[in-house]
Amino acid sequence: MYNMRLPVAAAAIIVAIPYSISLTAQWFYGWPDKPGYKKYIEALKPKRIYHLTRAVLEMMKYLQYSKLYFQWKLWYKKNDNKQCVKGIPFGHRGNKLDLYHSPRLDQSDTELSPVVVFVYGGAWGSGERSMYCLLAIQMAKELNASVICPDYSTYPKGNVLNMVQDISDSLMWVRENGHSFHLDKDNIVLIGHSAGAHLCALTTLFLLEGVESLFIEPFRQREMINSIKGVIGLSGVYDVMDHYEHEKTRAVEYISTMHKAMDGVENFEYYSPTSRIRKLKKDQLERVPPVGLIHGTDDIIVPVQSSVRLCELLTSLSVTVTLYLLPKINHTEMVTDLMVPGRHFYHTVFGCIKQEYRKFIRPS
Ligand SMILES: *[C@@H]1O[C@H](CO)[C@@H](O)[C@H](O)[C@H]1NC(C)=O
Ligand SMILES: *[C@@H]1O[C@H](CO)[C@@H](O)[C@H](O)[C@H]1NC(C)=O
Repeated sequence: MYNMRLPVAAAAIIVAIPYSISLTAQWFYGWPDKPGYKKYIEALKPKRIYHLTRAVLEMMKYLQYSKLYFQWKLWYKKNDNKQCVKGIPFGHRGNKLDLYHSPRLDQSDTELSPVVVFVYGGAWGSGERSMYCLLAIQMAKELNASVICPDYSTYPKGNVLNMVQDISDSLMWVRENGHSFHLDKDNIVLIGHSAGAHLCALTTLFLLEGVESLFIEPFRQREMINSIKGVIGLSGVYDVMDHYEHEKTRAVEYISTMHKAMDGVENFEYYSPTSRIRKLKKDQLERVPPVGLIHGTDDIIVPVQSSVRLCELLTSLSVTVTLYLLPKINHTEMVTDLMVPGRHFYHTVFGCIKQEYRKFIRPS
C-alpha cells in the first residue's frame, strides 16, 4: 500500500501543476469565450492545458534578461540629460516621449537631423519607453539620427485605434516641435518591433488613406505621409487573423491582449495592414513608403511567415520592400540584442537596419 502512494502522489503533482498554472493564467487574463459552464470545459481541455503551460513556462526565460533590466533602469534614472530629453508630453492622451539626440548634432548646431521614431512592442498591452533607453541610444549612434521613443495607450488604457492615434500624434509632435530640437521634420523613418511594427504599418496606412478617426486635417495627413521616408518592421505582426490562428496553436488566444485591444475578432480585418494594403487604389499604392522587414527564424511568438507574407504581398503590388530572414534569432533577442554592443546579434540586426535606413535617408 505504502509503495503505491509515492507514484500516485507524484502523478497528482504532475497533473496539478500544469492545471494550476493554466487555470491561474485564464483566471487573470480571460476564459474561453464559450457560453456558461462550457467555457470551463474548454479551459480544462488537456490539450489547452498542455500548450498553455508551455507558453507560461516560456515566459520564465525572460528572467535571463534581469541583468539588462537593471542596466536600463540604472541608465534611465541617472542619465544627465546630455544625450536625451526625457518625458516630453505629446498628443491628446497624456502620453510622453523621450528624445535621444543624434551624435551629428555635436558637430554642428545649425544642421537638422533625420528622425527615427521607434515604436516598442508588448502585445498591445504592455511596454514603456524607459525600457528602450539603451536601444534608443545605440540606434542614434548607429544611424546618426535623432531617435524618438513615444509611449502609447496600451490596452486597457486604449484600444488599437487609440494606439494608432498616439503614434500619429507623435509624428505630429515631430512636425510641430522638431525645429527647436534640430529635427528634420521631413525626414522620418518609423521602426517598430512586434506589435510596434504592426502599429507603424497601420499608422502609415491610416495616414495614406486619410482616415478621419485620426482627427488630423487631410492636408496635414498628406504632409505627414510625405515625411515618412521608410518603415522598418522587426518581428512584426501584419495580419491579425493569421496571428490569432497562431495564438490558438499556443492556446494563448483568450489570455492574449490582442483580441481585446482590437475590440474583438470582427475588427481583425480592419486593423490588419495586409487587408488594408489589398484595398489601396493605384495612386495610393504609389505613395506607400519603402518597407524593410527583419525577422528571426527562431521566433515562436510571431512566426517568420508574418513578414514573408507581407513581403510577397507588397512585391506583387510593386511596392519597394526588402526582407531579411535572420537565422537563429528569436522574438526577444531582436530588440534586447540591440541594447548593448556586446550582445550576440547586435551587429547582425543593426547591419540590416542600417542597410535599409541608408536607402531611405541619403547621407548628407
Ligand atoms: C554623422 O553625421 C555627421 C554630420 O553630417 C558626419 O560628420 C559624421 O561623419 C556622421 N557619422 C557617421 C557615423 O556616419
Ligand atoms: C532566445 O534565444 C536565446 C539564444 O538561443 C535563448 O537563450 C533565449 O532563452 C531565447 N529567449 C526566449 C524568450 O525564448
